[in-house]
Amino acid sequence: MEKSEHVLESHLSSTRIIYLPAPRKESDVSLEQALENRRSTRDYTGGSLDLSDVSQLLWSAQGETSTNGYRTAPSAGALFPLELYLLAMNVKDLKTGIYKYIPSTHSLRRQNNTDVNEGLAELCFDQTWITKAAVDILISAVYGRTTIKYGDRGIRYIYLEAGHAAQNICLQATALGLGATTVGAFSDQGLKLTLSMSSNEFPLYLLTIGKKL
Ligand SMILES: Cc1cc2nc3c(=O)[nH]c(=O)nc-3n(C[C@H](O)[C@H](O)[C@H](O)COP(=O)(O)O)c2cc1C
Repeated sequence: MEKSEHVLESHLSSTRIIYLPAPRKESDVSLEQALENRRSTRDYTGGSLDLSDVSQLLWSAQGETSTNGYRTAPSAGALFPLELYLLAMNVKDLKTGIYKYIPSTHSLRRQNNTDVNEGLAELCFDQTWITKAAVDILISAVYGRTTIKYGDRGIRYIYLEAGHAAQNICLQATALGLGATTVGAFSDQGLKLTLSMSSNEFPLYLLTIGKKL
């Protein structure tokens, strides 16, 4: 399939959908090599990622891997409380902006064209190194999807699930030769506002990804 076909855009209501290239299921890097080489990387070249990189990263975290909607990361009760946002600063063939990942169609829904970069570093308590990342992936959760079945214990399950998804992204980034760092230090309320989250959704974990220096 041609790249231009991958970047097919269509209007759905007033939103814009970007279909991602299908994820690759093979690579020259073994799981063991990815585990060995994963390291938090905060020095980025400022270079751009390809849309295929974005496709791999999002798929690794929450991509659907079965016809019944089960995903790359386990989910307590298969209730799938996690949501992923792509904050795209520097991706070929993708406008700067905030996007939401839709696992069922392996696509992005553009939320807006805001360049969050400088603001994001501030929201992460002035971690200025973040501004060099090509993309960030924010993992959030709608707690009610899990607590409706598991009560307060569901909160623990959601944190565990966010860890599964984040580690998948770290290993996938490593396999792609990219640098990634997980970030837990940020203003919850600030990110919630920046990403226009609904009142029942909460930001949990941020990953910064870029070309390694
Ligand atoms: C829950 C959690 C939160 C973290 N938050 C931050 C952060 O806000 N900023 C940062 O630079 N690194 C953050 N890190 C990355 C750690 O500093 C890093 O994992 C640690 O130094 C070990 O290095 P390694 O990841 O290269 O093995 C976080 C890691 C975890 C697990």
